[in-house]
Amino acid sequence: MIKAKTGIIITGASSGIGKAAAKEFARTGFKIFTIARRINELNRINDELEKEKISVETFPCNVASATNVEQVIKKIVAENRIGCLINNAGITSFKPALDNSVKDITDIISTNLLGSIYNIKYLLPHFIKNEGGTIINIISTAARKLFTESSAYTASKMGLLGYTDVLREEVRKHNIRVINVLPGATDTSMWSVEDRKEHSHRMMTADDVARTLVWLFLQQGNLVTEEITIRPIAGDI
Ligand SMILES: NC(=O)c1ccc[n+]([C@@H]2O[C@H](COP(=O)([O-])OP(=O)(O)OC[C@H]3O[C@@H](n4cnc5c(N)ncnc54)[C@H](OP(=O)(O)O)[C@@H]3O)[C@@H](O)[C@H]2O)c1
Repeated sequence: MIKAKTGIIITGASSGIGKAAAKEFARTGFKIFTIARRINELNRINDELEKEKISVETFPCNVASATNVEQVIKKIVAENRIGCLINNAGITSFKPALDNSVKDITDIISTNLLGSIYNIKYLLPHFIKNEGGTIINIISTAARKLFTESSAYTASKMGLLGYTDVLREEVRKHNIRVINVLPGATDTSMWSVEDRKEHSHRMMTADDVARTLVWLFLQQGNLVTEEITIRPIAGDI
């Protein structure tokens, strides 16, 4: 049974899908711990939720830093029982492989792949001690269908898919659910202003995706949705 005051950690909650998820889970009654680098943007969530008399807790953190992630996760679990980690923080470059700088590549892999792995690593002992938990990874359709100008991004998402598929087999015995969500085009600031102008009408909204995440977390019974692909009805951009 999932208790209402269960804690949910959401990385990359300062905008887009993570922010929408923070609001949607908070409205559902969960205690939310938001993580991102821009603390001002995390605090803005509370301004926006003020009228609804609900709030989230905010933690500045660069997920690409293992030390930073360890500090934040330790701080959160010291006083709270966490039921779910949503690994959502992510970046991309939309450049051909030839044009990616070493910094572009390092930033993408460190944030999307290593950042998610660090969060899992430091939270896993808490889940094992509590005999249960849920890890939801926001992957991408790019892990299953190839798009040009996304080489480092695709490597990071395929890497996370592989890592967490193995993890799932290791943690079943601890009653831990590992759910990989593969969203298609979603109208967030990950896309350029031009792309959003041209395509936003046929993209999913961050709220659409957030509602699906709540539904996945609340699924009852002796089951885990191991992988789910969600695309705009009109298909890929
Ligand atoms: N939009 C799409 O079409 C789409 C499709 C499939 C999958 N996704 C995935 O969905 C996830 C969310 O992306 P989005 O579309 O919502 O984009 P977004 O609006 O740009 O949000 C990205 C979030 O990641 C955070 N972030 C980036 N680097 C970080 C770091 N080093 N440490 C901590 N937080 C960091 C950002 O916060 P700060 O800048 O404040 O740190 C921001 O909150 C990503 O993993 C993305 O790959 C998106």
